[in-house]
Amino acid sequence: MAIPTAPLASGYTIPYLGLGTWRLVGDDCARIVRQALDLGYTHIDTADMYGNHEQVGAGIRGVERSSFFLTTKVGPEHLRHDDTIAVCERSLRELGTDYLDMLLIHWPNADVPMAETFEAMADLTQRGLIRSAGVSNFVAARLDEAVRISPVAICTNQVEFHPLLFQQSLLSFCGGRRVKVTAYSPLARTEALGHPVILAVSEEIGRTPAQVCLNWLVQKAIIVIPKASSEHRLRENMDIFDWSLTPEQQARIDAIGEQRRLIRPDIAEF
Ligand SMILES: NC(=O)c1ccc[n+]([C@@H]2O[C@H](COP(=O)([O-])OP(=O)(O)OC[C@H]3O[C@@H](n4cnc5c(N)ncnc54)[C@H](OP(=O)(O)O)[C@@H]3O)[C@@H](O)[C@H]2O)c1
Repeated sequence: MAIPTAPLASGYTIPYLGLGTWRLVGDDCARIVRQALDLGYTHIDTADMYGNHEQVGAGIRGVERSSFFLTTKVGPEHLRHDDTIAVCERSLRELGTDYLDMLLIHWPNADVPMAETFEAMADLTQRGLIRSAGVSNFVAARLDEAVRISPVAICTNQVEFHPLLFQQSLLSFCGGRRVKVTAYSPLARTEALGHPVILAVSEEIGRTPAQVCLNWLVQKAIIVIPKASSEHRLRENMDIFDWSLTPEQQARIDAIGEQRRLIRPDIAEF
């Protein structure tokens, strides 16, 4: 089944499923990226900070560029106007492509006025180097300011979101501003897979725990970018679109009620 897409405020669309590449390195990274694209994945997520642009670039080489969506992120230490431009230009060279579908601010940096970074993103958009702009790890107040001051549409907010960290109020806030939520660590880095509620639902519906987590997210119209390193898991994680959890199963996962933040709880804003 073709992977469904969602409209973005930029006028482009984003596929609901992407391959996360954090900690995919070396030849394995190139191999998995290519394998995912061959299997029908249409969206790859990387970041300058992951240090794997060249390997992702090797994975996408020779694949029709318009057939997949490519995101990278600029780190918080590079958010000055000229630095953002320089990182984007370097990322394109490393990836071996001439445009990004999405460029994100990876983490906010309170020491750099946001307007500077968004001006840079507007310049990059005008030059055709990026198609859509977005942010990551933005809480509602910061996102509100971003949307108000940015000359380019803020198309997505990529945040940690999984059954052990259900961020309903941020989801509603983003929805009200046409900012699509992208869930990173959608499997809670496997920690959600053994939760009793996930296991019970998995048993009832005859789907794997990973599929239950991913379906719970896409049913909420959230983009998911699970990382996987075997063909078997890549296939499993794609098979989430032609069935649904029941409303009662959704509600039971909503009610897990944990607030387990796995990624950088030391710097994440709440
Ligand atoms: N913007 C940000 O600040 C930020 C932060 C963190 C992550 N991200 C992005 O989000 C992506 C995903 O997050 P993540 O890598 O932290 O965690 P994740 O996708 O929740 O979990 C990845 C783990 O789940 C395993 N896995 C994958 N599919 C599975 C399946 N079907 N059954 C059982 N285990 C499975 C993987 O194992 P194997 O690899 O061994 O198959 C890996 O250990 C990252 O790769 C990155 O692109 C962004």
